[in-house]
Amino acid sequence: MQRLLVTGGAGFIGSNFVHYVLGNTDDHVTVLDKLTYAGNIASLKNLPEERFTFVEGDITDAALVDGLVADTDVVVHYAAESHNDNSLHDPRPFLDTNIIGTYTLIEAARKHNKRFHHISTDEVYGDLELDDPERFTEQTPYNPSSPYSSTKAGSDLLVRAWVRSFGLQATISNCSNNYGPYQHVEKFIPRQITNVIDGIRPKLYGKGENVRDWIHANDHSSAVLAIIAKGRIGETYLIGADGEKNNKDVVELILKHMGQAPDAYDHVVDRPGHDLRYAIDSSKLRDELGWEPKFSNFDAGIEDTIAWYRENENWWRPQKAQTEAKYKEQGQ
Ligand code: NAD
Ligand code: DAU
Repeated sequence: MQRLLVTGGAGFIGSNFVHYVLGNTDDHVTVLDKLTYAGNIASLKNLPEERFTFVEGDITDAALVDGLVADTDVVVHYAAESHNDNSLHDPRPFLDTNIIGTYTLIEAARKHNKRFHHISTDEVYGDLELDDPERFTEQTPYNPSSPYSSTKAGSDLLVRAWVRSFGLQATISNCSNNYGPYQHVEKFIPRQITNVIDGIRPKLYGKGENVRDWIHANDHSSAVLAIIAKGRIGETYLIGADGEKNNKDVVELILKHMGQAPDAYDHVVDRPGHDLRYAIDSSKLRDELGWEPKFSNFDAGIEDTIAWYRENENWWRPQKAQTEAKYKEQGQ
């Protein structure tokens, strides 16, 4: 049994991780989450009370963080401002949470000599051409495009520096695009599913040629647990499940499973600086730690995700109108 402090555990991937850990280990989990617009306490229902504690608070609050880190074995750091579109309109919270928040956590982990795992994104590597035979590896140079990805890149570099300069017991993982339950309706897949439920046509940025490398959130969780258990200190591991798809194909798949015509979507104004393609080579994680994804059927994963949003309207409904109103203002 170990005690995990999970930051951002009321968000999409963090809450999936909390469910996964409590369902598959005997670990104790404390979640530290500010419950921003992206955090939802309803994502943390029906968890075993004796193994789960929730603390509402900000990762930039040094006194709060210090006490919680002192009382844990491992810090798993998911908390972030995570949405590229928001970062283009109001970058400031991204600097506060992603940079200062990470700094606050690694200072506490250094002081108390605690194991630290930093969750990051493939977006730190910039983008690839559609026909590039190479994929991102741990050696790919950093080249982030957006305010979001540049703050994530900055947070990765802080962790690396704390490992080298102060001997922080840290690992880093950079994962590709996740899908699954509990994802906020601002994000691509839940936005389109809930649009169709509401009789709104899905919205594709630009031509829809952009490629993302999709992985189920549970496969991300199993990879993070493997890195915490067996990863080498100071190392970075890329997490991906060979799930490249362009956005147009994803929208058409959603429409098919929801009984709509394949062309029942609208092209809308493109995202400024929109990264063209992400693709992960996860050989290091697979070869060194023996990790493998379990959700290799994207078609079935999307069907399950559609079913989850149909069955859990109470979870997403409160955010929907406000999210769409914001997109409308931006012509998206
Ligand atoms: P999310 O936006 O759904 O959740 C973020 C959570 O962090 C929310 O619960 C929010 O309340 C909390 N939070 C935000 N600021 C905070 C603060 N200052 N203090 C405490 N809590 C705060 O994000 P997500 O999509 O679940 O992403 C989680 C992590 O995974 C992020 O670090 C992100 O960069 C990374 N990541 C995401 C993806 C993806 O596809 N979504 C892929 C790779 C990596
Ligand atoms: O690659 C990992 C990253 O994946 C994470 O670091 C981010 O936190 C996460 O939000 C995600 O970033 P993206 O920008 O790729 O995800 P998003 O869901 O916003 O968009 C996915 C793709 O779909 C992208 O090419 C933009 C496009 N899109 C998005 C929306 C919301 C549309 O075409 N229409 C839309 O309505």
